[in-house]
Formats: sequence, structure tokens, C-alpha cells
Amino acid sequence: MDIRKHIRGETMIQTIFENVKSAPDSGHLASYIPALANQSKDLFAACLVDGKGEVLEFGDIDYLFTLQSISKVMSFIVAAEHLGVDRILEKVDVEPTGDPFNSIVRLEVAEKGKPFNPMINAGAITVASLLPGETVELRVNAVREYLSKITGHEHYVNQEVYKSELETAYRNRAIANYLKANDYLVGTVEEALETYLQLCSLEVSTQDLSKFGLFLSSDGKFANDNKNLISRKTAQFSKALMMTCGLYNASGKYAATIGFPMKSGVSGGVLCTVHNGELENLNGHIGIAVFSPMIDEIGNSVKGMDFLKKLSDQYKLSVF
Ligand code: DON
Repeated sequence: MDIRKHIRGETMIQTIFENVKSAPDSGHLASYIPALANQSKDLFAACLVDGKGEVLEFGDIDYLFTLQSISKVMSFIVAAEHLGVDRILEKVDVEPTGDPFNSIVRLEVAEKGKPFNPMINAGAITVASLLPGETVELRVNAVREYLSKITGHEHYVNQEVYKSELETAYRNRAIANYLKANDYLVGTVEEALETYLQLCSLEVSTQDLSKFGLFLSSDGKFANDNKNLISRKTAQFSKALMMTCGLYNASGKYAATIGFPMKSGVSGGVLCTVHNGELENLNGHIGIAVFSPMIDEIGNSVKGMDFLKKLSDQYKLSVF
């Protein structure tokens, strides 16, 4: 979509942003992925966009970061559009787990080892194997191309982050082996793992993510032409999954305290989609994204979530 207007900082939202920015640091960088441990802990950005193309942006808006778990939303959408939501549901459920994102425990104790949802690693690795294309490259490109249609430019895999992840993917490889043993993966364990990790390593800006949030908010429509890029069912499932599972074992807490669909990644980004919001110059369907790399024990950005909570309180954005 075209961004028609840029408004840098509106009074109340600017104040919320500055207050959160200047609060004492807490959390840690995602040091379990060596390449992410090098990010500057002070980076902080927020971007909000509405269907008229009005944009509010704050902080380190041009900084590129890797999608990490936010890519789980994009992979689900592309796989669901390729095979239909019902075929995806044969391989992965849509139930929250209350477990950490990389937990392996339910693959052995749950009936038939079926992954609980596409927002945890087990479900996302399964979905990665269901993407269109016979090779890792084709599957990754299917998601890259999709993302480009929404953001209007190319997205690349950050090779340093990807290699770093692949070299240390002990848990993810174990999860993928369990999935293969229970017949949930198409292709080999390594293909599913490489696809999943390359998708996690795709780079975006905060504005790119906010455009994706807007796109989802309007059920896959672009502002300028009324065409739907995804089915209503795919949009509905994606947002329900974000709301119930998007922030892992903190999803219930944030559904209650913030109250709109969100998806986080360990690099510190959060993708959000708001319906019928009114925020100063913005209204109607609104996409929001935040980025700050210091994350909590669960894997959610500390300052990002703090900003979203204050924004939701101030502008009554909760759907509940
Ligand atoms: O599977 C992993 O470890 C990462 N590449 C993605 C994890 C992630 O972002 C979890 N999010 N909060």
C-alpha cells in the first residue's frame, strides 16, 4: 500500500513512547542465538498506520531486525492459502499450550503427538514443511514474495542470524525429529528446519510490520483497491491464533490486559492488528508494530509490551 502521509510523533503517543523509552532497562537480549546477542539494547521503535495511509512513527524506525517467531503468522497464511485452512488443521491444532515456545513435552504426551498450534515451534516447523514448493528455497521464496506484496519491497534472509540459529538448533532439531517420527512433516527433517529458520531470519523494519498488521486488520484488503489477498477464513484463524497463542505462555495475560491480536519474536519485534481504533490522527483498521530487543523470560519485548499496554489503556483499544 502507499503511505500517503508521514506524521512523526503525535503528542500523547509521543509522550507514551518517550516515557517507556526512558524507563530503566530490564530483560535481556536473545543470547541463545549468538548473532542476536550483538544487537544494541537501546534500540526502540514504534509505527502505527491506518487504512488511509496515515502513519505515526517513533524512534529507530529504519532499523532492520529479523522476524523470528513473527514469521509464524506469515507461514501460516501462505500455507493456509495454498492448501486451505482445513488441510493445515489435519497437521496442527489451534489450541494454546501455556508452555514455552520451544517446549517439546507435549509432542510425547499429547494424543498422536500433534502440535498444538502454529505459533509454537512444533506447529511452525510443521507448517514450514507444508509451504508451496519442492525445495527449501522455493518455500522460503513463497513467504518472501507474499511479504513483499504487503510491504512493497524485497525481504532478505539475514545469513549471519540464519547460520547462527542453524548451528545452535538443538531443541528445534529434536522437535522436528519428533514431528517426523509421528508423520507430521512433508519432506526431510533438515528441509523443514532450514525453511523454518530461514523464515525466522527474514529482515523487516517496524514500518513493514505495521503494514502487515493493517493488512490483517482489514482481512487481507489493501487500502487502495478493495481486493482481498487472503480469504476471510485465513484472516480469521490468523488473528485468533495471534490473540490466543501469539505471546506464548503470556498470551492469556496480554489478551486480558491489552486485548488485540499480537505476535512477538525473540529479536524484539511485536506485530499487532487493531480493529476500529481511534488514535489521534488514525482511525478504523490500524496496524501497529513495535521493536525493542530486550526481552523477558517468556520471549516478549519488555519495552514493546509496556508501550502497547499504555497505548491500549489510553485509547481503549481492547476488543473486550
Ligand atoms: O525457534 C527459535 O528459537 C527462534 N528462531 C524463534 C523463536 C522466537 O522468536 C520465539 N519468540 N518469542
